[in-house]
Amino acid sequence: PKPLYADYIQQRIRTVPDWPQPGVQFRDITPLLQDPKTFRLLVDTFVHRYMDMQIDLVAGVDARGFILGSVVAYELNLGFVPIRKKGKLPYLTEAEEYELEYGSATVEIHADACKPGDRVLLVDDLVATGGTMIAAARLLQRLGATVVEAAAIVDLPELGGSRLIAGQGIELYTICD
Ligand code: PRP
Ligand code: ADE
Ligand code: MG
Repeated sequence: PKPLYADYIQQRIRTVPDWPQPGVQFRDITPLLQDPKTFRLLVDTFVHRYMDMQIDLVAGVDARGFILGSVVAYELNLGFVPIRKKGKLPYLTEAEEYELEYGSATVEIHADACKPGDRVLLVDDLVATGGTMIAAARLLQRLGATVVEAAAIVDLPELGGSRLIAGQGIELYTICD
């Protein structure tokens, strides 16, 4: 079922045509973050869903996944793990390469970011091709963690990401498309 405030949240997401390249309909979440009432409803929607799922820690994906993920972690009284773009983490890392709607990239995680058996909530802002979420989930799984759910604000189902994520056996929760 659709979350209670899905329409309210969706109204604050701006679509910018042909950015960063022709043909891409860019979903810009900055108006949503800028409005305090909508930002609170967004965070509370995730907190309400995950507060009784026995999550051990929250992982967020560089960069937009940090904005939401760290606040949700704080509100759930949990720690936060950053999954970063290549070359940003200083300690021992694990890495996964993936394809984007516009290019390719590598994400990394610190080798001691979680331990086997940890129940992790994975947070990003948006699912397009699903490459980012799948790469991030693989990093967590390589450290022995269980990805309880991957969560994002927006799914772009026509780009096939949510189907791919489901095909990997990863639960996905999104608020709007
Ligand atoms: C965007 C978005 C997601 C990802 C979704 O991040 O924030 O992380 O793309 O695309 P996918 O499902 O096709 O992988 P991007 O790497 O553009 O940069 P940012 O988060 O650093 O702004
Ligand atoms: N990341 C990948 N595709 C995107 C889109 N259409 N809007 C915002 N972020 C994205
Ligand atoms: Mg991103």
